[in-house]
Amino acid sequence: MKILVLKSSGNKNGSSNMLADEFIKGAGSKGHEITEYNVIRKNIKPCLGCGACGMNGACVQKDDYENELKRLLKETDVIVFAFPVYYFGWPAQIKAVVDRFYSHTMELTGMHKKTVMLTVAWNDDDDTFAVTKAYYDKICEYMQFENLGTVVGKGCGTPSQTAGTVYPKMAYELGLSI
Ligand SMILES: Cc1cc2nc3c(=O)[nH]c(=O)nc-3n(C[C@H](O)[C@H](O)[C@H](O)COP(=O)(O)O)c2cc1C
Repeated sequence: MKILVLKSSGNKNGSSNMLADEFIKGAGSKGHEITEYNVIRKNIKPCLGCGACGMNGACVQKDDYENELKRLLKETDVIVFAFPVYYFGWPAQIKAVVDRFYSHTMELTGMHKKTVMLTVAWNDDDDTFAVTKAYYDKICEYMQFENLGTVVGKGCGTPSQTAGTVYPKMAYELGLSI
């Protein structure tokens, strides 16, 4: 299968990328074709809500989403969302990607993509992740994505903390299970 891993932290060797890299190791060992895409290094603008696309057409913003990521999303079988929790939710950089689904919502929905969520936060309580998880579930439902699994890294405030938890192994095993 084709797997598109969307990384979205500015910390190259940070905690969410650690989970993403472990996932990639696991999935890579099964022979899948993996594309890493670091959204934070790309020029992806927020949706303007202008409606010009009609939810099924070209976006007026000719940036890396329209010219590159849109095609990668279309071609892939699996989308992996890897991100740190920011203020109890998804960071702006990956939320912008989801909002830009708008110009091809009809098409993406009909493709029944498979998805994975890998996330980390400093706190180690369930409540910290409640909105993040609820949002993922709702997006899967609305976009008709099939959730292949999630890793919710509690108490992963720094890479050294994260390395000492079970979550990198969980991410590796989730990759292996694909
Ligand atoms: C802008 C910002 C907001 C954050 N908000 C939260 C939060 O709401 N809850 C929490 O537990 N950690 C929060 N954190 C901490 C990060 O989620 C945590 O340090 C994470 O490990 C960073 O992941 P990274 O290494 O992949 O960038 C926040 C960090 C930043 C920079």
